[in-house]
Amino acid sequence: MPFPTNAHRHFGSHLIVPEDLSASDITAIFAISQDLQTAFEAGHREVLFPGRVLGLVFEKPSLRTRVSFEAAMVHLGGASLFLGEDTGFSSSRESIADFGRVLSQYVDAIVCRVKNHESLVQLAAAAAVPVINGLSDYCHPCQALADIYTLKQHVGSVAGLKLAFVGDGNNVARSLAVLCGLLGMRFALAAPKAYQFDSAFCAHLKTILPAADVMETTDPVVAVEGAAVVYTDVWTSMGQEQERAKRIAALQPFQVNEALLKHCPDALFMHCLPARRGEEVTDGVIDGPQSVVVQEAANRMHLQKGLLAWMLGPTRPLDAR
Ligand code: CP
Ligand code: NVA
Repeated sequence: MPFPTNAHRHFGSHLIVPEDLSASDITAIFAISQDLQTAFEAGHREVLFPGRVLGLVFEKPSLRTRVSFEAAMVHLGGASLFLGEDTGFSSSRESIADFGRVLSQYVDAIVCRVKNHESLVQLAAAAAVPVINGLSDYCHPCQALADIYTLKQHVGSVAGLKLAFVGDGNNVARSLAVLCGLLGMRFALAAPKAYQFDSAFCAHLKTILPAADVMETTDPVVAVEGAAVVYTDVWTSMGQEQERAKRIAALQPFQVNEALLKHCPDALFMHCLPARRGEEVTDGVIDGPQSVVVQEAANRMHLQKGLLAWMLGPTRPLDAR
């Protein structure tokens, strides 16, 4: 079995925010993910979850998160159910608590993508099975885990390295800041003042990770100097479409382009995707030699296999019991 003997496995807990995990949890998840990835790439599909079902409750569009979880469950011998708006989550049809209590009777775990983070918190409070955040307006822990997993594959050890996020201080940026803090990495955000982290998040970060090395600047060059990773994301996240023109005007000087990457020629370029080419990133950067965006997207699946195995534990085929 592809489990390190010292893996610290949780059974039945949720992943709502990145800080639900400790550094040793993340180390264990990365190790399981790498074992499963290595086996998968050698042609083995580990049947860890026969007869297990993952429910995917999505209030927003998705390619990567939805398909990577669905494919992961197929590879691991389980199944998934995609539950879109017609199931009535977070609507007047029924309460989130009733929805969570009932869905827990049918599935072994739930991945949920929400418009409002609070809906996810309510679902997790009611659910009898593990709930995984598949993106909220507040954070995107599965993305950040796959990003740092990708970095680790390139550099071996991530402690002490700097990740520079250039652009909107959004859900993905918040998740990366926490993960960097947990793993002893440095985090720099370059954004206009109005798009930097709000004071509530900064205070929260100080409380949960007092030693975290997090800096904010309005100068992208200062942020990327000495960075191992330069990261960006869309300037207008899902749900913010009415602010698009204002955001483009404010964030234009924070585009990640060839001129900016000249200040960090050895850095990897990352983007969670989908990208708005020509806005937050140029074609030359996203398609260029420093870019690892496709590997990053592929790693969503490998990382989430490790996460599911760590959260749920393996089940043996019935005939082996
Ligand atoms: N990066 C990411 O979460 O992509 P999707 O919105 O396509 O799932
Ligand atoms: N910040 C983006 C991430 C998409 C994966 C959004 O929330 O739309």
